[in-house]
Amino acid sequence: MANSAEKNIEFIYPDNAVIMAPLSGFTDIAFRRSLYRQGCEFAFCEMVDVSSLVYCKEKIHPMLIRGEDEKFLGCQLVGSDLEHTKIALEKLNDYNFDVVDLNLGCPVPKVAKKCAGAELGRKIDQALEVFSLFGKYSKFPISAKIRILNKEDVTPTLQLVAGLIELGARAITIHGRVKEAYYSGDVDFEQIRECVKLADNRCQIIANGGIMNYQKYAEIREKTSCKAVMVARGAMGNPYIFSELKNPQEFQEITTEQLIADMRQHIEELIELYGEESGFKISRKILHDYLKGRGFRSSCRALASQVANRNDFEEFLDYTSKNRVI
Ligand SMILES: Cc1cc2nc3c(=O)[nH]c(=O)nc-3n(C[C@H](O)[C@H](O)[C@H](O)COP(=O)(O)O)c2cc1C
Repeated sequence: MANSAEKNIEFIYPDNAVIMAPLSGFTDIAFRRSLYRQGCEFAFCEMVDVSSLVYCKEKIHPMLIRGEDEKFLGCQLVGSDLEHTKIALEKLNDYNFDVVDLNLGCPVPKVAKKCAGAELGRKIDQALEVFSLFGKYSKFPISAKIRILNKEDVTPTLQLVAGLIELGARAITIHGRVKEAYYSGDVDFEQIRECVKLADNRCQIIANGGIMNYQKYAEIREKTSCKAVMVARGAMGNPYIFSELKNPQEFQEITTEQLIADMRQHIEELIELYGEESGFKISRKILHDYLKGRGFRSSCRALASQVANRNDFEEFLDYTSKNRVI
């Protein structure tokens, strides 16, 4: 096999890295910048389908724009078509990425229907055939993001991890839930730990699942023995999780003034990216996330749902600044 793994290779991420996951529909450059302001150092663009990259007529795929200020950026591909994967990887070589990742964990039906994401992950031989193209055609370090494959038995997960390492994966992120669980339920720390043992420093294993605060972060690190972790929903509307994890002792609840200023800046950057009409539409889900669990009246959420232009946005910010109840 190509790219047979060596022991103690140079890892992509430093020890203790906290990596922002690719999140479809979220991790655009405006979202990523909101994270960098809070200390995030490693982020991914939104996942891109290999075929959409093949058929893209523009010089740069709109979802793969990298800002000059971005010190580290990963790209994640999803798909199972071998020819399209090969072409997509070759096209990507004209971009500038720090890692190219294969998605083997996405559970949504639209993706599963094409035998991609988590569905592909379950078909270990086929998944490895797709990943072998990464080693062959990508000039960037390669990685994969998987789920555990069977709740009762670690064997298939280990088999997939071993195959990926053999094909040159420099990092493997493991979401400790099976496909059927989607995003809920307990994270299986033990299976991730078994994968760390198997990898034995030939590949960096990154733990993912349920990191919502420092306590959950400390728990997943301790129980999986992973040094590097990937944060996902914990950063939605909460870029502050990056400062919390870095400096748990000094971390304080975000003031209303800071939240208002940060929402304003994030949405301004969304508008810059998508224009006013689409930008304000997209802003609604972002604003909902910022408000979640922070003690704002439900009427603030209702107002966020109606934001369609600058006037609405200013009205929302003004109202929200006066309607935090705890
Ligand atoms: C809205 C949303 C979009 C996601 N998009 C992706 C994606 O594009 N690629 C990917 O590998 N995982 C994706 N995920 C999964 C997350 O990266 C992560 O594995 C999962 O949410 C578990 O981590 P958490 O419990 O910390 O949220 C997505 C999750 C959510 C909620």
